[in-house]
Amino acid sequence: MALLAVTAAAGGLAEALALLLVVQLTLALAAGPASPIELPLVEIALSPSVCIIVAGVAALCGLFSHLGVAWLTADIGSTVLANSRSNVVARFTEAGWPTQAVQREGSLQETVTTLSARTSTLANSIAKWIAQLVSLAMLLAAAFAVDPATTSVILIAGALLVAALRPLTNRNLNLSRLFVASNARFAEEVSGLSSMAMEVRVFGVQVAARDAVEALNREARLRQRNSRFAVEASSKLLRDLTMLLLVLGIGGLIWAGQENVGGLAAAAALVVRSLAAAQGANTAHHAAVESVPALDALTDRLEQLNSGRITTGRAELSRLDSIAFKSVSYSYNPSFPAIRDVSIEIGSGEAIGVVGPSGGGKSTFVQLLLRLRPPSEGSILVNGQDYLDFDAQDWSALVSFVPQEPGLVEATVAENIAFWRDIPRSRVREAARNANILDEIERLPKGFDTMLGPRGTGLSGGQKQRVAIARALAGEPALLILDEPSSALDAQSEELLQSTLNELRGRTTLIIVAHRLSTVEACDRLIVLESGEVTSVGSPSDLLRQPRFFRRVQEGPHV
Ligand SMILES: Nc1ncnc2c1ncn2[C@@H]1O[C@H](COP(=O)(O)OP(=O)(O)O)[C@@H](O)[C@H]1O
Ligand SMILES: [Mg+2]
Repeated sequence: MALLAVTAAAGGLAEALALLLVVQLTLALAAGPASPIELPLVEIALSPSVCIIVAGVAALCGLFSHLGVAWLTADIGSTVLANSRSNVVARFTEAGWPTQAVQREGSLQETVTTLSARTSTLANSIAKWIAQLVSLAMLLAAAFAVDPATTSVILIAGALLVAALRPLTNRNLNLSRLFVASNARFAEEVSGLSSMAMEVRVFGVQVAARDAVEALNREARLRQRNSRFAVEASSKLLRDLTMLLLVLGIGGLIWAGQENVGGLAAAAALVVRSLAAAQGANTAHHAAVESVPALDALTDRLEQLNSGRITTGRAELSRLDSIAFKSVSYSYNPSFPAIRDVSIEIGSGEAIGVVGPSGGGKSTFVQLLLRLRPPSEGSILVNGQDYLDFDAQDWSALVSFVPQEPGLVEATVAENIAFWRDIPRSRVREAARNANILDEIERLPKGFDTMLGPRGTGLSGGQKQRVAIARALAGEPALLILDEPSSALDAQSEELLQSTLNELRGRTTLIIVAHRLSTVEACDRLIVLESGEVTSVGSPSDLLRQPRFFRRVQEGPHV
């Protein structure tokens, strides 16, 4: 910024000098050829040719400093863009899962594209604004030195004008806030449209859905027009009114008997040039003002991402002997806990099935176990110590997970299994074998090097599920948690899953959430979760003997 100000100042001075010399030259030419040129201020007389050379050099200096200013402002803008993007991405990846989970679809993308770009525009505009103000100051200082009277009159009038236009600036800020808000609503609605595309088509409501988006589009258009017009209009108003003042001012001075024609002409030329700088400063200021709401929104998002961090300790964890829930509760909202007062112990190598009706709290239980959501009340102990004490890396190395709807990244099969971890190819292969998907991978056109799309193009639901299991197994976890792994599987895939789980029995602690009892029949113990409470714990055979157990688990108590 300092470099920018210095460069802009040099540019302004060079330009003022060039302008001054040109005016003096013109006046000298009018007075008669070869008459020496009297410079105001320094009282040196120059011959016309020297004067032309000096003016040329000054103009060149002006040119180079303008180029410098342009480069510096562009550089500032792009630096701000890149920094704000890395900031958003870093904060998002460091945010806790509860915060990440509530990010609306597309909101992260909007933050790194629209909001970051507008913040970059803001920085760029501020840089331009400063450069223009500095150059304006230099030009006016030159004008003042040459002819204080004319310049003062115009300066005072200009200041009054700026003060008079002040309320307009505030109005413009509001207009631009409105525009940004309706832009964001429009973007949200469009992203909703894309995520609901299937339902919209099936329900045949394309036209109504489009109309809803269209209404927001029209609103955003009107607000953009009003905001842009206000900005342009106030900028033009400032320029044209100042010109008018200049004319009136010079008229007044002539009328009052001003004699110093050279000074008057030079000052007038400098003031006219200052007008351009003032207008540039004004435009940059408005552009900055227009981008302020984007900076506010960006700051809000960053704060929101920051506030949801879960702090974990640094204690070392190399093995998993026991897990104990001590009166654990978890609430998404205070009035209705999703997990209530759960106390259970899980031993190393046990296979536990978690069953219960939909909405019973199974996925919440899993997220608590995974340390994705720390308990709202009570605590979870691992090897007798609060599980939040353990180092994040150690924890991830021991605990793995297969989600209900696993995602695939746009990378090869092998990379999808290794998943950014440093896992040798032989272990990737071994994991694929244990997940019962090795044969199918080898039948793909390029085997482990086949590219998979973000939505797993070319893989069936069951295959995707088994790639996800291979991903979990590749880290050789001590605790493996599966959330409804069989919900989308056909009979054959379920059989393959069963044989994988049987292989793991005893070597790995298994927590298997299921709504089909067949998936968890072979477990050591079943936990029944209903309305967030553990209502039964026991071996599958014991529980199945209980009257109406089957119906309760499958349908829930409220049916
Ligand atoms: N992200 C969330 N925000 C608010 N409430 C939630 C959220 N996820 C789940 N719930 C609520 O918590 C309860 C338990 O849900 P969940 O753990 O998903 O059950 P299950 O996996 O057994 O179907 C339900 O009442 C559900 O509506
Ligand atoms: Mg669930």
